[in-house]
Amino acid sequence: MSSTPTVRWGILATGGIALTFTKDLLLDPATRGVSSVKHTVVAAASSSSKSRAEAFLKEVAAPSDAKAYGSYEEFAEDPNVDIVYIATPHSHHYQNARLCLEAGKHVLCEKAFTVNAAQARKLAEIAKEKNLFLMEAVWTRYFPLSIYVREQITSGRIGHIARVISDNSMALDPEKSFTDGKHRMVNPDLAGGALLDLGIYALTWVFQTLYHTQPEKTRQPPKLLAFVKPYRGTGNADEHSTMILNFPRSEEEGGDAHAVATTSLRVATSPGASQDTPCVRIQGPKGEIQVFPPSFRPTKTKLILSDGTIEEKDWVYPGPGKGSNWYSGFGDSQHSEGEGRGMFWEADEAAEAILTGRKEAKFENLDESILIMEIMDEVRRQGGLEYPSKIETLDYPVQL
Ligand SMILES: NC(=O)c1ccc[n+]([C@@H]2O[C@H](COP(=O)([O-])OP(=O)(O)OC[C@H]3O[C@@H](n4cnc5c(N)ncnc54)[C@H](OP(=O)(O)O)[C@@H]3O)[C@@H](O)[C@H]2O)c1
Repeated sequence: MSSTPTVRWGILATGGIALTFTKDLLLDPATRGVSSVKHTVVAAASSSSKSRAEAFLKEVAAPSDAKAYGSYEEFAEDPNVDIVYIATPHSHHYQNARLCLEAGKHVLCEKAFTVNAAQARKLAEIAKEKNLFLMEAVWTRYFPLSIYVREQITSGRIGHIARVISDNSMALDPEKSFTDGKHRMVNPDLAGGALLDLGIYALTWVFQTLYHTQPEKTRQPPKLLAFVKPYRGTGNADEHSTMILNFPRSEEEGGDAHAVATTSLRVATSPGASQDTPCVRIQGPKGEIQVFPPSFRPTKTKLILSDGTIEEKDWVYPGPGKGSNWYSGFGDSQHSEGEGRGMFWEADEAAEAILTGRKEAKFENLDESILIMEIMDEVRRQGGLEYPSKIETLDYPVQL
């Protein structure tokens, strides 16, 4: 008799996205047509207290024997945990991921992967040495919507891409929303600013369409010109970053391709609450693919070909469905009843990799995560944006 393998997760941190991820993780995979793997949560840790971890496990309806920890160090030693999901602020990812890797755990770490490329390289080196799986949690790459867009490109429907215009911006009214400057969106001590938090998605769309779709052997890193506007409230955090990229390609592949990636926490991709302005436009000689906001979780695509073909698609996020009284619990917007947030697809990918012995994610390997960190390092270098040395360091362990 064959039984479905179950992957045992530990959750490190109990904040906003940890809650949403874990709720998604514990949904029945059959609700999205997955029958090859199941997920369970065996432990959660909070840096503030054990009782916070207990409350978190209760809130996500984890199995009653899941263990709560009031220390990340003790949690990392739990022998029942196969893989750790890390959901602390970016500033802490290097220290936390290294803790878990050193303890022999596979790791799925939230975006932005680390503060800089050197830290990402070091984590990749340790994972390789210890034969562990390591993945940046760029969930968007695993959506059926993203797979569809990449397939339209590789099947040549719009011809060789000439350019990509990609934005991920939100009008967050930072002076009002983050008055004391301590929030992770604007706090330099937490690697705050638009670039690492929101800009990573503008770059994700550029890379997954223009770079990832090229044969691995011939892909080349892009050249970059960047501008950064600091957020006055806290100084060393950006309120906008604008990046122009040139991707070298052979003449047979269409020659060099361009991209513009923009991000802001001052103005929105689409004004007001509307979502009718495309956040991503992928343009080729035979047509264009448009993706509608928000770019991290789009629900609509439009393919427009020069022969007059128009294909519009609405993308549904599966879940237990109406009548289930289940809500994803993401921020203020809980989504419709029974609708998943969509973080389970990246969890399925991580679980599948572990079960098959794969060490890197299939739609973004570690080299690509490191390259994107290098681009963001260069954006900060050109824009003069420096974070405190204690969060840029390769030293370990460092108490932050
Ligand atoms: N994929 C997505 O859609 C998505 C969405 C939002 C955020 N994110 C990413 O997820 C990460 C966390 O974001 P979030 O919105 O969940 O943040 P959050 O609500 O502020 O939660 C962060 C958690 O990290 C822990 N933590 C440890 N040291 C901390 C410190 N010095 N300051 C603040 N928190 C600390 C805390 O949990 P304990 O007290 O339990 O230790 C805290 O609750 C970020 O890297 C962010 O970019 C991803």
